[in-house]
Parts: sequence; C-alpha cells; structure tokens
Amino acid sequence: MAKTTNNGNSTKSPAKTKAPSKGSGDKKDAGKAGANKLWGGHYSRGPAVLMQKINASIGFDKKLWLQDIEGSVAHCEMLIAQGIIPEKDGKRILDGMVRIREEFEERAFPLFEEYEDIHMNIEVGLTEKIGPAAKKLHTARSRNDQVATDFKLWVRDALDAVEFALKDLQAALLDRAEEYYDAVMPGFTHLQVAQPVTFGHHLMAYVEMFGRDRGRLMDARERLNECPLGSAALAGTSFPLDRHMVAETLGFREPTRNSLDSVSDRDFALEFLSAVSIIAMHLSRFAEEIVIWTSAQFKFITLTEAFTTGSSIMPQKRNPDAAELIRAKTGRINGSLITLLTVMKGLPLAYSKDMQEDKEPVFDAAENILLGIEAMAGMVRDMTPDRKRLYESAAEGFSTATDLADWLVKNLGLPFRDCHHIVGRVVKQAEEKGLRLDELTLKDLQKVEPKITAAALEVLTVKNSVKSRKSYGGTAPENVKKAIKVARKQYIGE
Ligand code: ARG
Repeated sequence: MAKTTNNGNSTKSPAKTKAPSKGSGDKKDAGKAGANKLWGGHYSRGPAVLMQKINASIGFDKKLWLQDIEGSVAHCEMLIAQGIIPEKDGKRILDGMVRIREEFEERAFPLFEEYEDIHMNIEVGLTEKIGPAAKKLHTARSRNDQVATDFKLWVRDALDAVEFALKDLQAALLDRAEEYYDAVMPGFTHLQVAQPVTFGHHLMAYVEMFGRDRGRLMDARERLNECPLGSAALAGTSFPLDRHMVAETLGFREPTRNSLDSVSDRDFALEFLSAVSIIAMHLSRFAEEIVIWTSAQFKFITLTEAFTTGSSIMPQKRNPDAAELIRAKTGRINGSLITLLTVMKGLPLAYSKDMQEDKEPVFDAAENILLGIEAMAGMVRDMTPDRKRLYESAAEGFSTATDLADWLVKNLGLPFRDCHHIVGRVVKQAEEKGLRLDELTLKDLQKVEPKITAAALEVLTVKNSVKSRKSYGGTAPENVKKAIKVARKQYIGE
C-alpha cells in the first residue's frame, strides 16, 4: 500500500506513482486500490483509481490533525462521562490519541490516500494502535459534524493569528506616526495635491482601518464560537450526549442549536474570507502608496535593502517588490472568497461533498494574509520618510488655497462661494508667475482683492495650514498626538 508520512508534502497513492493510463476510471480499474477498507459490509471492492484521486482530501486536510485529535478527545471524554462507551475502552482511546499526537508532532504519523481524509486516517491509525476499542470512538458522531468542528477550530485559531498580526502592524504604525506626527506632507484627492496633512495623520488613517478589520474578525469569532459536534450526520442522535460538555472542553461558548444547520454551515469560513479580503484590500491600498512614494518622481520615503530588490540589468534600481506582492496577493485572496461563495451557493441541506472544497481557499488565504500583514509591518518599521521632500512637495500644487478662502470668510465676512472665486484668481496669478502660493506678495494678493491684509500671508504656509486644522479628527499635529495616545490605549492596551 502506498503511504507517506505527514512529513511529506503530498500523500502518495497508486494513482500518483504512475501516470494515469487511458481508461483510468473504467470498470477494469475499479478495485485496484484493494478491497474497500472504509465502508465495510456494503462495499466489496475498492474505488476506481480516479475516484480515489478526486475523493481524497488528505493531501490538504492533514492540516487539521491537531483539531481532529482535540475534537475526538473531547467527544470520547463525553462518551465516557455519559456511560455511552465503557470507561475501559474510552481510556484506551484517549491513550491512543496521546500517542497519535506525539507521532504527528514528530512528523511520523503515516497518512494514506486510501483512507480519504484526516478523520479516517486517524481512526485507522488508532485502530492499529489500540485494537477494537478504537471502533467505539465514532459512536454518536459523523464525519459531517466532525469536519465542521475541526474546521471551525482551525478557522478560530486563524482568526486569532490574523488579529494578532494586525495588532502588531498597528503598533508599528503608531510608533512611526509618533515620530512623524508633525511632518507636513501633501494630502491628495484624485491623487492630485489637495491640502497639507501630516505624515503621522496619514499613518493613523491605516491604524483606523486595521482597527475596523480587527473588529470584523472579533465579530466573526463571536458568531463562529458554537460547537457543531454531536449533530452527527444531520439529524442529531439517539445517544444521550452532553453537547454542552463537549462545547466547553473545546472552548466554544455553547453548542449549535440546529443539527441540519450545524453540518451544512460554512458561514464562519466565509466570514473569515470576507474579513480577510477587506484586510487585503486595505493592505493593497497602502502597498500602492508605498510603490508611489518610493518612486523617483515622489521620493517621499526610502526602503532599505531589507525590503527591496535590485534589478538584474539596471544597476540603479531599488524595487519595492514586497509592496507589489502584497498588492498582488489581493487577487488570490479575493479569489478564495469567490471560490467558497460559489461552492456553497445552491447546496441543499445538509452536507454535500462539495463542501470538502472549502478548505484549500481558506488555508491559502490565511497563509497569504499573514505573510502580507507581517511584511507590511516590516516595511513600516523599515521606511525612512524624507521630511524635507515631504514638506516641499506639500507646498506645491497650491495646497493652501482653501486656507486663504477660509481666511477671507473669517476676516472679510464674505460668503465662502465668493471667496472660492477670489482664491481661484489668486491661484491663476501664481500659476502664471510660476510661484507657489506662499511666494506671493501682499501686493499680488491685493491685486485680486484689495481688502486682503498682511495677516493673510500667514495662512499660506503649509505649516500653519496643518496647525490650524484642529477640528475633531483633523490633521493638526496636536490632534495627531492625542489620537495616537487614544489609539494606543484602544488598540494596543498601553
Ligand atoms: N473529507 C470530508 C470533508 O472535508 C469529511 C466529511 C465527509 N463526509 C461524508 N459524508 N462523506 O468534507
């Protein structure tokens, strides 16, 4: 029998060791994998080679080994406590599970494609270790509630890991925001210079985004945290289970309330993928900014060699590959969400084998979002903003035009719309002279509006512009400082 250990990347099988012959899956191929070991009395021969190949999930659901063992242990303890199986058999099962866990930890537990998935592989391994008592473990349980439970446990851990990684990214952003709380830079709309902001304020915008992302993950965790085990195949069971005990052992808040829903629900995976897709979108937007900021035309920040790559032909290049790859990972992550939404749509209650296709997209999305978040935190810590360059480019593009309009409203008592027109003419003049707004003289301003006084010149500097934006949530450095303090408390617990 072809076998591999969980050390290997793939699970070997007869179907894999030779190229599929023409006609694989024909009747003559049926049974090549040997007599069916799983379905006992009802089946006299093994599956066609191709059936085994399409059916087996062990190649990827081996990731669930720990959750499967934990679920089985909780189930077995409950079966003993309820007198559903004899204590003697139950103890042997629990001992066997300890040994299996050790073998997995040593990467020595053998896995077989013939046994389809992680659940059957562990059950077969248990039978080999402890003999007939192992066959009592599956009392009052089905792989349908088993896989739902295992997968929920895995997704719950993944939610926690992503949430933790986001917290670290926020910590990195907060540190840098504190350093640059008063560093003036241009704020953009339409990627056209709009009004001056501070670099700290800009980074704090991402702290807010990742804060909402963490909130979404925690909300999803709250809804996920109900235990499906004990729902059996779909209808519940006639055995006197204690589902509350199992739920508690596995750290769930309570058992699920409807057995049909329990085995057919994959909302928890979809919510995870939805939340992760939004995170990926946020990361991608930030990554895009890093790509722009590091370009020769912008030069707002530099990244060190740690987070860039060179070019094999152009010696001068320092490419922001990590940012580009984070931006690109959005594709596969969104794809994972669409994959699972599409798998689930149209499935009648309760379990359908289609649902076996739920795992790979979730595993892939989890792995890549973690990598993306960690790499982003790395870049945030690595980047060096160029204060001077940021300041200078903030003054370009007539970024303080609104400040002058506001000054006219406040000091000349004119309606804002009229002031907008006056400043429009001031900008036109500056444009014609090739000057920045803060390079205009009082005379220049008075040519457009004679009532303007020297005090108006003050508001034309970008420094004074950001200083004045003290409205709640505005970019004034003193606001940013306060916001950082509040965010540290709220998000980092400092
Ligand atoms: N490998 C299956 C899955 O991932 C386990 C459940 C199988 N249940 C069944 N009735 N065939 O969904």
